[in-house]
Order: sequence, then structure tokens, then C-alpha cells
Amino acid sequence: MPEIKQTPVANEPASNGAGSHSNDANQSTPKERPVAPSVAPRARYAHIVGWGRHVPEKVITNHDLAQIVDTSDEWIRSRTGIAERHVAADPKETSASLAVIAARRALEVADVPASKVDLIICATTTPEYAFPATACLIQDALGASNAGAFDLSAACSGFVYALAMARGQIMAGDAEYVLVIGTETLSRIVDWTDRETCILFGDGAGAVLVAASEVPGGILAVDLGSDGSGGNTLIVPAGGSAMSTSLETVSSGMHYLKMDGKAVFRFATRVMAASTRKVLERAGYTTDEVDLVVPHQANIRIIQNSVLNQLKIPAEKVFVNLEKYGNTSTASIPIALCEAIEAGKLKPGYKVVFVGFGAGLTWAACAIDWRTPVEKQAAGWWKNTRRQATYSAAAARSMWKRAVRWVYEVLPDPETPGREPSKETPEAPVKELAGERTKE
Ligand code: ACO
Repeated sequence: MPEIKQTPVANEPASNGAGSHSNDANQSTPKERPVAPSVAPRARYAHIVGWGRHVPEKVITNHDLAQIVDTSDEWIRSRTGIAERHVAADPKETSASLAVIAARRALEVADVPASKVDLIICATTTPEYAFPATACLIQDALGASNAGAFDLSAACSGFVYALAMARGQIMAGDAEYVLVIGTETLSRIVDWTDRETCILFGDGAGAVLVAASEVPGGILAVDLGSDGSGGNTLIVPAGGSAMSTSLETVSSGMHYLKMDGKAVFRFATRVMAASTRKVLERAGYTTDEVDLVVPHQANIRIIQNSVLNQLKIPAEKVFVNLEKYGNTSTASIPIALCEAIEAGKLKPGYKVVFVGFGAGLTWAACAIDWRTPVEKQAAGWWKNTRRQATYSAAAARSMWKRAVRWVYEVLPDPETPGREPSKETPEAPVKELAGERTKE
């Protein structure tokens, strides 16, 4: 890699004296053109300043599952630690609708309006569509009219990958506020007749707002990894360009999640510990100094074998809530983060690690010097009303834009006379998000 050289500071005399300039314009060469005095760039840090979560109401317990597949509460609890999971039973509950509620909560905690968000990154393995990106649907529902938006695919590691991207954007000076979301409706891609997978997963969404600050701390270090040779150990085989959807793929169940559980288990226990070690080293922390680990909530035995046994981090410093939610993939770490805060397990000054693994195969960890106060600020009546009004305005604006597009469709096109105007009515909103019915 070519060496990146530091640009000489403008107006600073060169050390050999050759840089002393004449004010005579005739003598000026392109090299000597006056330049604006440079200002030393201020250090920027990326802090999590808001957090929110949302899970569907419907709960499926292990006993419920024992009614539909050959399993038992005892087997599931002892092999995974899971007791129940939330499932999007209502067809209107989708990855985007869950995400919008979680994201609104994160903005509310941070007390930042959606209009200030510069970028929305949605990590998901269950997007609404192949395209458009789920992040764009969330952007529309939030009324985040100044935000770029894209989806990130790194399976269960996706949330930490997205945090790393947010940190990069902020530290580069390209964004002030980045909304990072993990959202899933895994119940829609799980084969409910396969006892080896259907017992593991749940639905939900978690979101954080990452903000630029000059206060040292925040997301200090990240470690991202991948090993595509293990891609087939956890895969949805059909529906992509390798195997497009057909009657055959559907009848053979190739659109469902397939997993080699043992292989994933072995991989997970190895990378969770290694990635945590690496990120702690980058942040300059020792394992003893860590105050809180929020691991991906896949299986209690994976957490025990990696974080507790290999890293020797005591259980009271490791937040676990998988018994209530199962594996919610990209949403598991932000949901757990919110619950850790609610449980008083996170305080300003704490050294925190997020670590996850997933399909790809991928893994990711980040180390955080947490500085944000965690006390819940009661939002006043006026703020709540104003916030609700902005969301209603966002829905109205979205509807208006659709209507304008429709008008362009039905108007005769002056450039192609004789072209039949469209008889279709305005396109319906892609989805009714967050329970807000948009008029059609
Ligand atoms: N109920 C009862 N018995 C079961 C069940 C079940 N739900 N599932 C499997 N069994 C049986 C098996 O058929 C097997 O029976 P056999 O011995 O007669 O062949 C026996 O239980 C043991 O099966 P194992 O596969 O050895 O069980 P194991 O202890 O490995 O646990 C599990 C399986 C829970 C899937 C574990 O391997 C695991 O957690 N793997 C990691 C999975 C994971 O984290 N995936 C998510 C990745 S994140 C992402 O990107 C989506």
C-alpha cells in the first residue's frame, strides 16, 4: 500500500526554509497560491446516545412448540437456554414495522428529531424485499428526509458490522447522527416442521442512535471477520440468483433457513472469544477491566463456552436475555442492550463489549467506553405531541409524493403523443408501518 503522507500545514514555513513566499503576484507559481489557513481537525468520537427495542406481542413457549414438533421444554432449555420467543403473528408486523417502533424509541431517548439523522443502516437477514432496502422504508416512515439509507447483510453479526460503519462515517466527518437498526422476522423463514431450527429463533427489533461528539470515548474499537468457506453451514438456499424461486424450490422447502447446528456451534465458541480478545487489545483494555459484555443471544452454552470459560469474564458482567426472546439475529444485541440499561447494568464510565457471530460465516465485536447518561428522562407532553405530529406529517408527505408520481403517470405525456395514460390508482404504500394506517 502506498504510504499516505501528511499534507503540510498551509502557511507553515517548510523546515528547510524553501517555503517562504513572496507577496508579489507575478512570482507566484501554482504551488505558491495562497490557501485558506488550515484549522487542525477536531477529534471526533462516535457515541451511542439513544436506544430502543420492540418485539411482537405473540409469545410461543417451548411447551407450545412441543405441540407441533417432536421436542420438549426440558430439551430446549438444557441445550439452548431458551424458554420462549416472540413471533410476528400479525401479517402487518414486518421487519420494517418492528424497526420503525424501535427506531422512534431510540430517537426519543436521544431527544433528536428524525430530520437530523444523516444515515440509516438496517442490519437484517429478513428484509421486506430483495429491494427496495428495508432501511428506505424505515426512512420514509420516520420522515428522516435528510438521511441516506441502506441495508447491511452480515446475518447475526450485522448489528455490530453496522455500528462499525456508523462509527466510520462519523469519524470521517460524513455524518453527525447515524441510526443503526437490527430487525428480524425470522419466523417467516423458519421451517416450523424442523425441530433443529424452529426452536431457536424469535422476532424483534432494536435500534441505537450513534452521534458525533468531541468527548473522548464511545465506540473505541471494532473487529470484523468473515469466512465464506462456511457459507453453507447456515443458509437460505433459494430466492437469490444462485437458485431463483420456483415451484420446485418452494415444494422442497429450499426457501427456509437450513443449518448445521454443530458446525455453527464450534465456530461460534471459537470466534466469540477470539474477536473479543482482539477488540479489547485494540481498545487498550484487559478482560479484567470489562464491566459489561452484551453477546449475541444465540445459545447459553455458546456464551458459557466462549465469554465465561475462555475469557474468564464472570457471569454477572455478561448480559443474557435469550430465555425470553430466543435468537433474534441482528436484533439480539440491541434488544439486550436496552434491557441491560433498564436493569441498571450499564452506567457511564463502563467499558462495554458487543460481540456476535452469524451466517456468512461472520463475526464482529466492538469495545465501547460508555459515556451517555442512562437515566430515563420523562419527555414532556409538548415534546410527545410534537413528535407524534412529525410522524403524522411524514406519513402525509409520503402519501403526497406517491400521489404526485401517480399524477405524472396519468397525465398525457407531451413527448409521446398518443400514449395511453395509466388507469392505475396511486400505488399503495409499500406497507403500513408501525400501525399507522396511511390512506390509500
Ligand atoms: N428437540 C429434541 N431433540 C432434538 C431437537 C429438539 N428441538 N433438535 C435436535 N434434537 C436431537 C437430535 O436429532 C439429536 O438426536 P440423535 O442424537 O438421536 O441424533 C440430539 O437431539 C442431539 O442433537 P445435536 O445436534 O447434537 O444437539 P446439540 O447439543 O448440538 O444442540 C443446537 C443443537 C441447539 C442447534 C446447537 O448445535 C446450537 O445451538 N448450534 C448453534 C446454532 C446457532 O447459534 N445458530 C444461529 C447462528 S446466528 C445466525 O446467523 C442466524
